Amino acid sequence: MNILILSGSPRKHGNTDLMVEAFVKGISEHHNVEVVSVHDNKVAPCIGCNACFKSENNTCVQKDDMIGIYEKMKQADMLVIASPVYFYGLSAQVKAVIDRCHNPIRDTFNIKKTALLLVGASTLPELFDSIITQYKLCINFFHLDDAGCVVARGVKDKGNIKNTKSLKEAYELGRFV
Ligand SMILES: Cc1cc2nc3c(=O)[nH]c(=O)nc-3n(C[C@H](O)[C@H](O)[C@H](O)COP(=O)(O)O)c2cc1C
Repeated sequence: MNILILSGSPRKHGNTDLMVEAFVKGISEHHNVEVVSVHDNKVAPCIGCNACFKSENNTCVQKDDMIGIYEKMKQADMLVIASPVYFYGLSAQVKAVIDRCHNPIRDTFNIKKTALLLVGASTLPELFDSIITQYKLCINFFHLDDAGCVVARGVKDKGNIKNTKSLKEAYELGRFV
């Protein structure tokens, strides 16, 4: 499979990036992988104009790095969303990429499988509940298969995730996809 990973922290080399690295190590044993990071791509939020529903080739009025990401999404069989928790939600940067898929161009995608990688500072049991609910509702709506989810609690500063078992779990999830 071609795996596209959307790495969603604007903080370079932080906990999200480390979780993605571990997952890539596992999944690249059997699949082709590409990582798209929000710290290298500027994607504006959807403005809801719906012009893409009528434009030639469903082009968006916003000319930004989403143009390249649409092309990568067209090639992908599986999409992995990795994000830090920001106020119980995904990072705004990841949400912007997802919202820009409110575009009929998504009908040309062949994505069949998804996975979720999440990190957050608190140790609350409910830390990831709202994101996981949103994720499940979306994959049900689009009839996608869930390959799994790895979470890391209690990781605030860069590198904290190295002290958890989540990197191993992310590697294992990647390896067995
Ligand atoms: C804007 C913002 C909002 C945050 N909101 C939460 C939150 O609601 N709950 C939480 O546990 N951590 C929260 N955090 C902490 C991050 O999730 C945590 O530091 C994480 O490790 C950052 O990942 P990164 O190293 O990949 O950037 C927030 C951080 C920022 C910058």
